[in-house]
Amino acid sequence: MSLTLSKKASEVKPSSTLAITAKANELKAKGIDVVGFGAGEPDFNTPDNINQAAIKAINEGFTKYTPASGIEELKKAVCKKFKEFNHIEYNTNQVVISNGGKHSLTNIFTAILNPLDEVIIPAPYWLSYPEIVRLSNGVPVFIKGGKEQGYKVSAKQIEEACTDKTKALVLNTPNNPTGMVYLREELEAIAEVVIRKDIYVVADEMYENLIYGDKEHVSIASLNDEIYKRTITCSGVAKSYAMTGWRIGYTGSSVEIAKLMGSVQSHQTSNPNSIAQKATVEALLGNQDTIATMKEEFNKRREYMYDRVCNMPLLHTLEPEGAFYQFIDVSEVLEKEYKGSKIQTTEKLGAILIEDFNVAVIPCADFGFENHIRLSYAISIEKIKKGLDRIEDFLNQLK
Ligand SMILES: Cc1ncc(COP(=O)(O)O)c(C=O)c1O
Repeated sequence: MSLTLSKKASEVKPSSTLAITAKANELKAKGIDVVGFGAGEPDFNTPDNINQAAIKAINEGFTKYTPASGIEELKKAVCKKFKEFNHIEYNTNQVVISNGGKHSLTNIFTAILNPLDEVIIPAPYWLSYPEIVRLSNGVPVFIKGGKEQGYKVSAKQIEEACTDKTKALVLNTPNNPTGMVYLREELEAIAEVVIRKDIYVVADEMYENLIYGDKEHVSIASLNDEIYKRTITCSGVAKSYAMTGWRIGYTGSSVEIAKLMGSVQSHQTSNPNSIAQKATVEALLGNQDTIATMKEEFNKRREYMYDRVCNMPLLHTLEPEGAFYQFIDVSEVLEKEYKGSKIQTTEKLGAILIEDFNVAVIPCADFGFENHIRLSYAISIEKIKKGLDRIEDFLNQLK
């Protein structure tokens, strides 16, 4: 048979985080007590008021097709949330409800990119951005936010990366994998460049509710009219409401972009799940107490993990300000020897930690950053303690 397959699909890199998770699950299936720091989802159950709204939807027969871009009731709830939480005014015809944030991002890039348009992606980045951009026929262009600049990029770097092919900038705050949060003045400087260069901003604010200490979440679209026109704001309920499996994401954009996204979605997936849409209305408009409790718990874990990591030999880290990840510089660890051979790469480090110490961590080369690993604190404090004890034991054995 001489049939070929899609070159574009063949070039997609399978998610490396899934490989670690698979290895961890394999060991768990053998009865081995593995501590998984890989999780990109809250360990809490979806709050009961949200579950009850879904059960009600089923019992009332709300189980049919809905309008492809989502029900008006949910779009109104999203507009209210954008207005009150993000200080952005969107009408319902500017909102598209999709099957998770990942799907929202796919729709955004499908709607704005022509072949070979460039998209600036600040590294470290969430590993799906480059692949989604490539699948939408765009070209990812990377710029690097080093540790000395708090793993964030500056307006100047963005300006220098712009060419006549640049179509958009991805801006993720709070950030996965670093947990860093962009400050208002940093966003103002970035907005100024974006307006001058006349490009779009894809503002991924998936972790907007999970910000700790005295940091505030600022949505770039809220800064002024010119940046509002150029921004597509993307969020969802997965992380803030412990609703990863429900698959609801949403966007606010110009009417024109929302129309394109809606029509693309109408052919590719039709509406997002009707029951999950009703559950999301309750998530956004209902009682927010459980959300506050989850955030408090994340904060305790964050403080514990940060403190422990700071006190371990060879590791260097910054205090995460949002999301639920600790991003760790392991350059010094890679220079050391374990069982007579140099560690050298984060992949090898990840393999040693899982095989010999039963701890799963995420090596961050696929997040656009060498010499770093990501630990999630979306697991119980007891598990965090056990996992960190094991990492410390490993570090003490290095020569
Ligand atoms: C930064 C970021 N954006 C978007 C998403 C996608 O979220 P969803 O589960 O709603 O597709 C994730 C999920 O890990 C993420 O980390």
